[in-house]
Amino acid sequence: MADLDGIKVEKNYHLDKPFATGGNFHVKGAANLDWGMKKRLTNIFNPKSGNTVMFAFDHGYFMGSVSGLERLDLLIPQLIDHVDVLMSTRGALRSSVKPGFRKGLALRVSSGSSMLNDDLSHEVVAMDIEDAIRMDADCMAVQCFIGADGQLSSIENLSRVINAGNRYGIPSMGVVAVGKNMERTAQYFKLATRILAELGAHIVKTYYCDDFEEVAAACPVPIVVAGGKKLPEKEALEMAYNSIKGGAAGVDMGRNIFQSYHPAEMADAVGKIVHEKFSAKEALEYYTERTKG
Ligand code: R5P
Repeated sequence: MADLDGIKVEKNYHLDKPFATGGNFHVKGAANLDWGMKKRLTNIFNPKSGNTVMFAFDHGYFMGSVSGLERLDLLIPQLIDHVDVLMSTRGALRSSVKPGFRKGLALRVSSGSSMLNDDLSHEVVAMDIEDAIRMDADCMAVQCFIGADGQLSSIENLSRVINAGNRYGIPSMGVVAVGKNMERTAQYFKLATRILAELGAHIVKTYYCDDFEEVAAACPVPIVVAGGKKLPEKEALEMAYNSIKGGAAGVDMGRNIFQSYHPAEMADAVGKIVHEKFSAKEALEYYTERTKG
């Protein structure tokens, strides 16, 4: 029997070392992609900061008209100038957003459940690649339920979307879904984010957690951090700051922007952290100054 002495078993995320195969392109893990992929990723990730502020308002795809998103036609025009990317369903975009906006577009392409279901993990790919091309998507987002009942269909959905996107130069974003009873630990997020990246996702969306640095270091493509439920502005800005400090390439924030009393100012404050290296304290001061009175 082989002697186990000397076998390396401890993990080392080399947190002191930057990503080694970046080449001359500003998006992690994308140096070897085609021109069209790089162009679309550049529509998402700012070439100067390397980061993005995505504004997620796709919640209606399973939650209906959540608080703050009752009238997309009124909300979105207020926010377009304050974010880098709109993350939306095709129905919300076509009905309520003018097509001339000059920002990135992350299209949600999976669906299949609603808040009325106990188990949300069974989804399908709900959009043809041709429609993503027609809408000029910069990436396609697929919800993925790793460890849940619907894991197999999630992986099939993501793989189908990645395969179709690769044919036409459209990146894919794997979205780590966390069900009601699923843990939100670094151990789980390291597993889920790495699986999605290795399947070929060009961007991974996940949640912030303790030891997030290890999650980001072990994921070979950019991570954008979901905002989650509404927090006081101070806490939401701290989460954004800690995410960027921990290696995220931006946020994909919804409720912490659109459920704020001052959505545009909140988006701007988040942008200061994401693009201009503001601390959470500086960003909160910026937000407070702009909303007082
Ligand atoms: C994800 O499943 C949702 O569709 C949202 O895109 C995501 O949760 C981000 O929004 P929030 O910051 O409100 O969590």
